[in-house]
Amino acid sequence: MKILAIESSCDDTAVAIVENGRKVLSSTASSQIDIHKIYGGVVPEIASRAHIESITPLTKLALKEANLSLENIDAIAVTYAPGLIGSLLVGLGFAKGLALATGLPLVPVHHIKAHIASLYISNPELKPPFLCLVVSGGHSHILEVKDYTKINIIAKTRDDAAGEAFDKIGRRLGFDYPGGITLDKTAENGNPNAFGLPVPLKNEENTLDFSFSGLKTAMINIINKFEQKNAPLPIEDMCAAFRKSVVDCLTNNFICAAKQLGYTKLAIAGGVSANSLLRRELQKKCNKNSYSLFMPEKKYCGDNAAMVGSQAYYEFLSGKTAPLNINALASKLISED
Ligand code: KG4
Ligand code: ZN
Repeated sequence: MKILAIESSCDDTAVAIVENGRKVLSSTASSQIDIHKIYGGVVPEIASRAHIESITPLTKLALKEANLSLENIDAIAVTYAPGLIGSLLVGLGFAKGLALATGLPLVPVHHIKAHIASLYISNPELKPPFLCLVVSGGHSHILEVKDYTKINIIAKTRDDAAGEAFDKIGRRLGFDYPGGITLDKTAENGNPNAFGLPVPLKNEENTLDFSFSGLKTAMINIINKFEQKNAPLPIEDMCAAFRKSVVDCLTNNFICAAKQLGYTKLAIAGGVSANSLLRRELQKKCNKNSYSLFMPEKKYCGDNAAMVGSQAYYEFLSGKTAPLNINALASKLISED
């Protein structure tokens, strides 16, 4: 079964064709980073307009790269929630048009479920059940992937998402949006123990939830103190210390959740799963506990349409298709999808 999939939930327009949930026949994308970095973050109105400009050429390109035409496609898939509403509506409207014109079924896909499905592309042997840490610019969740389409929330962030915290500190240090990537690279040359940072939710023993806003404020206070003294910022050390604190929180709670729930098969997904320290530290902790760890290839960590096409296959098999009056939703819990 060949699915043409569309992703436009934030600032990447992407179209891909995926066969039977696991084989990527083509994967095209147009990043809007250069447009948004002037403003230091995503401007929703501009994002929607840029999606409109790229979506038709990308669809043509995805078909061309796969050497296929619309007659060879079996279903149209699209991210319908959660995300920026204007951005989602562009992808959903376009997908509805394609479904109407071709008579093909329309498969709506939840964005976080799609991130989990990026693991199926990179790890052909991976099947649910497993425990998954999904960390992106908008989400930080520990999820129990019971089945391809049934997912329980075990823990979540109480404030900022991990990627959001990385981006905000990156921005404060003068990096272009999205700062998380530069912060990760810069941290490689720094001393992670140069500054003492607080441990979030330290006094709440029975929670697996995350919190990054206090950590972010503590880091900003350290930066402010250097600036008040007109002292040069030890940027590499600052990046290393902040990255280590975020990664410690993520990995400690995730391993703790695996122990509590009895999972030995673990996985990570989402934009922040490209973080080098997160990948290294989690692998070490999993080795120590004899857990197996699955990760997406770096090219499938961030938003892409191949992951949407992968998840859509399993949604379609479970009987999920949408009528043409389906609406986009800016927020919707994965457990309620
Ligand atoms: O999954 P994604 O592309 O979009 C959302 O669904 O939010 O994730 C984007 C986020 C951004 O916050 C970006 O800074 C972060 O992922 N990110 C990273 C790295 N690569 C991307 N954060 C830390 N280290 C990285 N290497
Ligand atoms: Zn995403």
